[in-house]
Amino acid sequence: MAVIYHAESRTFHLYNDAFSYIFKIMDPGIPVHLYYGRKIHDRDAFDYLLETARRPMAVVLSEDRPDLSLEHLKLEYPVYGTGDMRNPALDVRHENGSRLLELLYENHQITAGKSVPADLPGVYTEKDEEAETLALVLRDAESSLQVILYYSVMEEMPVLIRSAQIVNAGQNEIRLETAMSLSLDLPEMEYDMITLTGAWARERHVRRSPLHEGVQSIGSLRGFSSNNFSPFFALAEKNTDENSGTAVGVSIIYSGSFLAEAAADTYHTVRIRIGIHPETFEWHLQPGDSFRTPEAVLVYSDAGLNGMSQAFHTLCRTRIARGIWRDRCRPVLVNNWEGTYFDFDEEKLLAIARCAKDLGMEMFVLDDGWFRCRSSDRTGLGDWIVDTDKFPRGIRHFTDAVHAMGLLCGIWIEPEMVSPGTDLFREHPEWIIHEEGRPMHAGRHQYVLDYSNPDVVDAVFEKISAVLAESRVDYVKWDMNRSMSDVYSMTLKHQGELMHRYILGVYALYSRLIEKFPGILFESCASGGARFDMGMLYYAPQCWTSDDTDAYERQKIQYGTSYVYPLSSMGSHVSAVPNHQLHRSISFKTRADTAYFGTFGYELDLTKLTEEEKAEVRRQICFMKEHRQLIQFGTFFRLRSPFEGNETAWMCVSPDRSEAVIAYYRQTQEVNAGYRRIRLQGLDPDGLYAIEGQTETYYGDALMHAGLLLSDASCGEEKSEEGDYISRLYVLKRIA
Ligand code: DGJ
Repeated sequence: MAVIYHAESRTFHLYNDAFSYIFKIMDPGIPVHLYYGRKIHDRDAFDYLLETARRPMAVVLSEDRPDLSLEHLKLEYPVYGTGDMRNPALDVRHENGSRLLELLYENHQITAGKSVPADLPGVYTEKDEEAETLALVLRDAESSLQVILYYSVMEEMPVLIRSAQIVNAGQNEIRLETAMSLSLDLPEMEYDMITLTGAWARERHVRRSPLHEGVQSIGSLRGFSSNNFSPFFALAEKNTDENSGTAVGVSIIYSGSFLAEAAADTYHTVRIRIGIHPETFEWHLQPGDSFRTPEAVLVYSDAGLNGMSQAFHTLCRTRIARGIWRDRCRPVLVNNWEGTYFDFDEEKLLAIARCAKDLGMEMFVLDDGWFRCRSSDRTGLGDWIVDTDKFPRGIRHFTDAVHAMGLLCGIWIEPEMVSPGTDLFREHPEWIIHEEGRPMHAGRHQYVLDYSNPDVVDAVFEKISAVLAESRVDYVKWDMNRSMSDVYSMTLKHQGELMHRYILGVYALYSRLIEKFPGILFESCASGGARFDMGMLYYAPQCWTSDDTDAYERQKIQYGTSYVYPLSSMGSHVSAVPNHQLHRSISFKTRADTAYFGTFGYELDLTKLTEEEKAEVRRQICFMKEHRQLIQFGTFFRLRSPFEGNETAWMCVSPDRSEAVIAYYRQTQEVNAGYRRIRLQGLDPDGLYAIEGQTETYYGDALMHAGLLLSDASCGEEKSEEGDYISRLYVLKRIA
């Protein structure tokens, strides 16, 4: 790994074993991109990669070089207005109304390691040898605006982290209108763009479509990253599939409104941008002020989409997620939400908890409804005082009772909201995001607190700290259930800063709570997976993946989520049938076989299970406890996509390749179907493997190249024992 500067050619070569990223400083000081892709040999100069052409109508850099124009160069951090006609990375307003900037090289520093930007989530290193960072300083001479571009190359991962710091080193105020985390110009457009799209209860479905001339973008204006579009896309070469071919994954470590874009021009080059959504952003920089963008993550893979995802997984799991739970297997839990909704009291919950303990579970999570005025979702949020009708002896009595059973105990909160009917709502209308005199628009009957106001964050911190200190819980599910509207703050000077300041407030609250309660396992949630992003993973190492607990829907959601996020981060539970979202009944086995591939738990009233079902749950929990280290921390491969057919398959392999768990799911039964086999991935080709429950043994190479044969009775015999929505698990152990 290195960041090399070739002074004579003014060329930077950033590389590790996987990729090279090359740009040069071109007269009069413009950073021009030359190459991003598989690692190539270093050289003193890469000028042959500079594509220039005399283009009629172009605005030229200088009269004596008619072949050079900003519009046709590949730029590292383009600005608006001085010749580049594409979307800019940075757009400002000077005091005189001008938008013009000319950012030229001033100096640079190369340092070992990588630091996390202040007040933002980011990638960290534990040792300086893990990364090298280039800080490239550019300056606009006229205004003295300085832009520092940060590039960090990770030693062991095909990962480059980029961000920008914008410093007002001049005498006048400057307003930022657009400040992207990353802009990257690629020389070709023959890519497919892969995105993860969805909505409530159908998050992160995989979509793939060819790039065309023009802008293809996704984003969020909701104040959170959203379940509609995950803050990620990949550009994959046409022949790239899960296991082979080249792909570039692009993401951002941020939880607020974002824009991610691939814009192909009519010369068939592509500009990638990702950052805070400019539509709802502005930032005022007084002389001396600076602004830091969130970090963008670039992953390069020439091992297909699985290779890309595995790099994202390692990064998220080991260098974004933090805390004592980062490397620990996650407790098997029962959550009472779908089991009881708001209809519970202490006795009812303790009965479920007793049952959970008896079945081998490790944690009870008390979901929504434990606090005053919360017998429905119409009111209650904001005061955070226990409901003594439900818990006559207080919350501590309940959590002590759960702890006394030998279970961990968790609690649900939604600290960013306030409902009508609460003291908070009555006493502090100025703490609610809305404009006085205009109608307030509710979402789930509730309103959003103004986290851009530090007083609000302080007040919520006090209230939530009191709840956590009193209850001594081990786990917190931090929910967030509406999009932001009526975006106006009663206390903020510059309203365009509200959305970003809001999310900084959320991060500040998380930081303070984590510091005060370092032992707590946080699970983030936003009506399921509407804020499932790398920003959140910095604070909460797991996220409730979706409110949809139907096993088949979950196979799609978890498949898509795995494009970026590791299994250790995916909250996944077995729920009752008929399923509450789909009204579909899928067997207990398939429900568990699906939920194993995540953090695993149950979300139903355990006291209603039959003895036979309880015996099955006991077996399931034993299975998960035996294999969760491998599942949550092993290498994950997608094998067959639910978006492309009737089957889904995936597998996890242990780091030393001695063990693997393979899951195969089929949606609908087929009569007299074709033969089926599945080629496994990631095994030791020379290792001899036994499959649990079978006598035959197989070499790893045979399983990977000839495949695991899956044909069953439905392929030809008269009677099949299996119906729709079946699943099979195969546990492989290397025996020689
Ligand atoms: C939305 C979450 O996604 C659910 O799991 C549950 O916690 C409810 N909120 C509670 O209101």
